[in-house]
Amino acid sequence: MQAIEVTPYDTKAELYSDLAIHLKGILMAENEWLPNLSNASALLWQYLPTINWAGFYVVCGEHLLLAPFQGKPACVTIAHGMGVCGTAWKEDEVQLVLDVHAFPGHIACDGASNSEIVLPIHSEGHVVAVLDVDSPVLERFDAEDQAGLETVVALLEAHIDWKRVQGAYDVSKSPTRVLQCNIGF
Ligand code: SME
Repeated sequence: MQAIEVTPYDTKAELYSDLAIHLKGILMAENEWLPNLSNASALLWQYLPTINWAGFYVVCGEHLLLAPFQGKPACVTIAHGMGVCGTAWKEDEVQLVLDVHAFPGHIACDGASNSEIVLPIHSEGHVVAVLDVDSPVLERFDAEDQAGLETVVALLEAHIDWKRVQGAYDVSKSPTRVLQCNIGF
């Protein structure tokens, strides 16, 4: 039997407003990417009902690289233009997917996922990361979720020094060779 999740909020607007206030309060003044993305994923997990994954991929060369998240272990790399995340990066557009099974090329990291929203994150005009939230509920995300998550993204764009984000692998050369990879630009 599926557990019924209870949220203390009457509206999504109230939920996202509180989430944004909370996020502003815990973002590090030093604009460090790892603690700030880690806490952001934890807050999304804490605030959003009926989700099964919330987190980030950062741009690393021609791939997205798994970054802080909550939920089950996920694909470590995603190629440019592949899946919902790679499409959000390539098209530089929010992907609001009501039914992931109808999205050509959807990458199923968790077979329980039925809907998904992915938002590009920018620095100096480049996509440097994506925010991905998945749900086992079909049509879980709507325009209000998109607006609320765009506020989260705007806070992260402003409070992370994206030039200091570094990945570990240059997968275009070797999946095992550890290299320094400046993200995005
Ligand atoms: N479903 C995503 C892959 C990432 S996981 O959902 C965490 C995609 O199609 O890009």
